[in-house]
Amino acid sequence: MYNGGKIIAGLVIFFGLLTVPFFINAVKPTSGANPSIDTPVINSLDTKECVKPADYMRIEHMKVLDEWRDEVVRDGDRKTIHVGGKDFQKSLQNGCMECHSNKKQFCDECHKYAGVKPYCWSCHFVKEEGRI
Ligand code: HEC
Ligand code: HEC
Ligand code: HEC
Repeated sequence: MYNGGKIIAGLVIFFGLLTVPFFINAVKPTSGANPSIDTPVINSLDTKECVKPADYMRIEHMKVLDEWRDEVVRDGDRKTIHVGGKDFQKSLQNGCMECHSNKKQFCDECHKYAGVKPYCWSCHFVKEEGRI
């Protein structure tokens, strides 16, 4: 019998250290980036809220986009959603970007920081950039 306790403790520390960079990466994007929600549509809302709580959106917004895409494209479900006193489409360009019309100061601000480049914009347009 070797010193099982020490080996296990060693393994726990080893794997703990291995995962540290992942935890640091997980918090980094929001701690340094400063996305702006100062847009005409957001400023006109009764309550400044997103389609889901901001804490959830910060981490899971791509899931919401995936769900919307599936509902619209697969199920043909184009029911609007009611947020902040107004109706919005479940749509990237006519939903998210209606409120977050400042793509550069919002989406790009974080994505630049996090080093992500969503491929969506090769097909979906951003009105602000005059491509529509
Ligand atoms: C009705 C307007 C509206 C729509 C539509 C909307 N948002 Fe938001 N969003 C907001 C507001 C307002 C906030 C800030 C909420 C807060 O701070 O409580 C926000 C917050 C966020 C955040 C967190 C920002 C941060 O500082 O951490 C993300 C990410 C986000 N939205 C992405 C999206 C995406 C992606 C969509 C489409 C699936 C979307 N939003 C649709 C108004 C909207
Ligand atoms: C608070 C910071 C923040 C804001 C604001 C934000 N994002 Fe993100 N987004 C991220 C991070 C970080 C990732 C990468 C997450 C990961 O890989 O798990 C990401 C990933 C994504 C992805 C998936 C990309 C891929 O290749 O997997 C999509 C799509 C996306 N964001 C769309 C948007 C849109 C559209 C907006 C603006 C309406 C937006 N995001 C605003 C931080 C943000
Ligand atoms: C190859 C082209 C292409 C790419 C790339 C693409 N989409 Fe789409 N997307 C479409 C088409 C076409 C539809 C169907 C439009 C409709 O029926 O209204 C659609 C529909 C959607 C919808 C529902 C309707 C709407 O108006 O938004 C969402 C949400 C969506 N896509 C999100 C995304 C996201 C997020 C990405 C990037 C991670 C992405 N798409 C990348 C072509 C594309």
